[in-house]
Amino acid sequence: MNPLNERLQAVRWEEDKLYLLDQRVLPHTYTHISLETASQVAIAIKDMVVRGAPAIGITAAYGVVLAAREAYQKSPEQWQTIISADMQTLAQARPTAVNLVWALERMQKCFSHISGNPESELLSEAKAIHQEDIDANYTMGNFGSSLLPKNCRILTHCNAGALATGGYGTALGVVRSGFSDNKITQVYADETRPWLQGTRLTAWELLEDHIPVTLVTESAAATLMKEKMVDWVIVGSDRIAANGDVANKIGTYHLAVLARYHGVKVMVAAPLSTVDFSIATGSEIKVEEREAHEILTSNGQRIAPLDAQAWNPVFDVTPAELVDAIVTEKGIIEQPTTEKLQQWR
Ligand code: MRU
Repeated sequence: MNPLNERLQAVRWEEDKLYLLDQRVLPHTYTHISLETASQVAIAIKDMVVRGAPAIGITAAYGVVLAAREAYQKSPEQWQTIISADMQTLAQARPTAVNLVWALERMQKCFSHISGNPESELLSEAKAIHQEDIDANYTMGNFGSSLLPKNCRILTHCNAGALATGGYGTALGVVRSGFSDNKITQVYADETRPWLQGTRLTAWELLEDHIPVTLVTESAAATLMKEKMVDWVIVGSDRIAANGDVANKIGTYHLAVLARYHGVKVMVAAPLSTVDFSIATGSEIKVEEREAHEILTSNGQRIAPLDAQAWNPVFDVTPAELVDAIVTEKGIIEQPTTEKLQQWR
């Protein structure tokens, strides 16, 4: 089993405080910020200090510990009522990653069993959510690697790695496992505009683990596939509908369309906490739209003409029919359908 690389841990709980690795400034600045209140946590999630669906869920779970601490200090009798405003704020921090509400609901389920100060019981639950995500990542890594042929060339999108999870990665967990199984000869990461998760985060975290990586622009994907330079596209997900439709970083859908045309396979690796059985299809997924300035500027400098407008949806939904395999900690489903996904319910 590949050991966790401590430098890549996005979320840590230490000495009663929550620490987040600031992913906005990686890779050239490596710094953590410490958080003491739930509203600071919600802002950090919204502002992308921490990002990636599972890491957002884990962070929110620790956010509930901070919220409970504040609420209990205000009123040991009324903390469960007081905390609801913070729970709401956390839930609204980002809309697409279902892991966020999944984690909050799981934390809330503990409330009814707690008498007295809730902090230690809630902290145990948050730590359990964190550890289970790491365990799920390892299991998915092995399942995903089992699908890969020898001398496999991978293209990945955004960052679905240690930085986006409890610490090993979903798509990049498969890459890590496939690499140590000697099955992977090439990893391409696309830039992932406008936040450049591919350029800044995926490239950095793979190199930290001594896995060579080649960056490409998103628009190079068609040529890469036409030239037969890639065998599998491997991505993570923010929400998977009951029929296997997959919400992930904007640009995933176009990779899946291109992959089908060129005979390249598509794998989605995600923990079960990403599967939302309450929605039948991906059309029910709320896609986050972020501010136009993320596209109109680069490094804080305006690059577009002053009167230009921009539309900035940050996720898209890939129809299940374009996905060759969904991998969770429960196993592999090829050519996903509603009937097949039921086995994970
Ligand atoms: O906007 P981001 O960086 O939070 O988007 C992240 C992604 O789209 C990831 O692919 C997804 O959350 C899966 S992370 C294991």
